[in-house]
Amino acid sequence: MSDDALQAVRVRGFSLSKSEIIGLLIRLSIVGAATYYGVKWIVYAMDPTRKQKQEAKQQAEKLMRAIGLPLHSSLTEYELSIATQLVDPLTLTIAWSDIGGLQGTCKEIKDTILLPLKKKHLFAGSKLMQPPKGVLLYGPPGCGKTMIAKAIAKDAGCRFINLQASNLTDKWYGESQKLASAVFSLAAKFQPAIIFIDEIDSFLRSRASHDHEATAMMKAQFMTLWDGLITNENCEVIVMGATNRPQDVDAAILRRMPTSFHIGMPDKAQRRHILEIILRDEEIESDVNLDLIAEKSENFSGSDLREICRNACMYRIRDHIAEGEAASDDLRPLSMADVLSALGKLKEARVQQNYSIQPLSSLPLD
Ligand SMILES: Nc1ncnc2c1ncn2[C@@H]1O[C@H](COP(=O)(O)OP(=O)(O)OP(=O)(O)O)[C@@H](O)[C@H]1O
Ligand SMILES: [Mg+2]
Repeated sequence: MSDDALQAVRVRGFSLSKSEIIGLLIRLSIVGAATYYGVKWIVYAMDPTRKQKQEAKQQAEKLMRAIGLPLHSSLTEYELSIATQLVDPLTLTIAWSDIGGLQGTCKEIKDTILLPLKKKHLFAGSKLMQPPKGVLLYGPPGCGKTMIAKAIAKDAGCRFINLQASNLTDKWYGESQKLASAVFSLAAKFQPAIIFIDEIDSFLRSRASHDHEATAMMKAQFMTLWDGLITNENCEVIVMGATNRPQDVDAAILRRMPTSFHIGMPDKAQRRHILEIILRDEEIESDVNLDLIAEKSENFSGSDLREICRNACMYRIRDHIAEGEAASDDLRPLSMADVLSALGKLKEARVQQNYSIQPLSSLPLD
């Protein structure tokens, strides 16, 4: 401190030595720093989303380590929250070979979505030969849309974000928008990437004037960011949606998904293939006639066929238990009678639910 300043201190009636003044300054700096960090900690402790963010961070880091992704220090807390929805392909059990009756569609999907991601060099020369930025899988329930998405995730060899609408909604105003923008910024950081939204009709349904303001803003944000993807040729991010109610999806969203695949109800040959796949690991008797089952199961989806086979297998367990102690340890093989009986029961249940099998084909997609 200068002599003038020391003089000023003396004039006001204090007489402080140089060391006392230095000590005072040090104490003031410590109090200042403690106050700064104290207030910062209080603000942090008062943040209502703190625990959620901490958990998301830990979960995202664990997942990214498992997938083999570098732990980006530049990821924001919102991006980390979205990163919890990254899919580890090794944990997925569905492969293309598990999907029955849809070989043609699967091949087309692979060529449209996966080929441009895997063979980038072939697509580099032309502006038109770019992968689509939006893909829609639509069709009646239980016919394999989610299965196809899982097979893509397993095979893609790129990052796959299985976006859950619940992770974008937040009770705090403005948070949803930040999360929506984090989806795209995270995908861009980890590109090539696929953002998958199952049941997209519930999340991006047609906008209406009575929509909640926060939801409307989030949808608008989502569309704007998606447009950013479409116009950026170098951005290898694809948004993929699946729905059984395409008529409920907002028209502007549908426009952003020009490539669409209809995953319809299986025909007889497709049902036979699905049955083959479902029963391939089961012990079945030689009298099981898959052609006949496929013929008798008209208007049943892949999911129904799986349910029929599951119920048929349960008869083996019931018989085994009914035999009591006399039964050997081995279950008897699945018989044609088991399958027909399970099929009959499901048809009966349908009729009772007023889902008469005949008009089922003419029902709307839901
Ligand atoms: N083509 C298929 N091949 C083999 N199994 C199938 C097929 N389609 C459906 N399944 C069976 O039905 C189940 C449900 O299929 P999935 O979840 O893919 O239906 P979805 O089309 O997504 O239905 P939703 O529209 O109701 O979500 C699968 O787990 C599988 O066991
Ligand atoms: Mg589904």
